[in-house]
Amino acid sequence: MIIAIDGPAGSGKSTVAKLVAGELGFAYLDTGAMYRSVAWRALEEGLNLTDPLCVASVNRIRQIAQAEPISFGYTQGEPLPSKVFINGRDVTTQIRTPECDKAVSPVSADPEVRQALTQQQQDFGREHDTVMEGRDIGTVVFPEAELKVFLIATAKERARRRALQNAQKEGRQQADDDEIELILADILRRDAYDSSREAAPLAAASDSWELDTTDMTIEQVVAAIVAAAQERNGAVAQERSGAQAQERNGAVAQERNGAVAQERK
Ligand code: DC
Repeated sequence: MIIAIDGPAGSGKSTVAKLVAGELGFAYLDTGAMYRSVAWRALEEGLNLTDPLCVASVNRIRQIAQAEPISFGYTQGEPLPSKVFINGRDVTTQIRTPECDKAVSPVSADPEVRQALTQQQQDFGREHDTVMEGRDIGTVVFPEAELKVFLIATAKERARRRALQNAQKEGRQQADDDEIELILADILRRDAYDSSREAAPLAAASDSWELDTTDMTIEQVVAAIVAAAQERNGAVAQERSGAQAQERNGAVAQERNGAVAQERK
């Protein structure tokens, strides 16, 4: 079973997806971390991806995305993998820097980079029951996902959450207004970029469940998704056993028809 969780930057996808995966015992795949890893390699090699005339840079980043596999690893004591590796190199902390936040947009807009990472994501999803989060999981990576959730929240609320998360990492209880404004500007910039790019733009699948989390707690969002997943799982199991029963009925009817025809002969 695939649970696709898409949505804009700061909508709470990662927090929610991890908790849902933990509750259901599913694997978890953070596809944003994959784009960030490739962006980090672009920074490392000093590639220029914003100037379309830098063909050599574009070719090089495509080569990296195609040749350097991305994998995830466990931190001791944590139930879900939180370490990110590209070609075996640990880039867990490097991919969360403001430089990488900026570099990731042009990298994720390239169709060939997307194709290479989409392939890796599909391979992973075929192997495990997975909660997969990103921007295009329900539309491109797994359009046949059994449950598709599109998380939204106002830009202001998303900025407030991100700023609070950053402050808490530094041991503070609150973020100040300036921090929130700065993050809000970055969120609006990324929303615009992610939604307007040609390749797999951020968009809700027509059959996705749009969940506005502005006034919901994380626990409420997780409980709602887990309940929907369980319901969907039950429906899928029923559909499957219904299809099997129909197949069996068909086979029995065929056998009977064959026997009747032979008797008549
Ligand atoms: O979820 P995130 O903020 O870590 O994602 C980083 C960037 O990667 C984001 O700007 C959009 C891009 N991305 C994407 O284009 N497709 C995905 N499936 C996941 C992320």
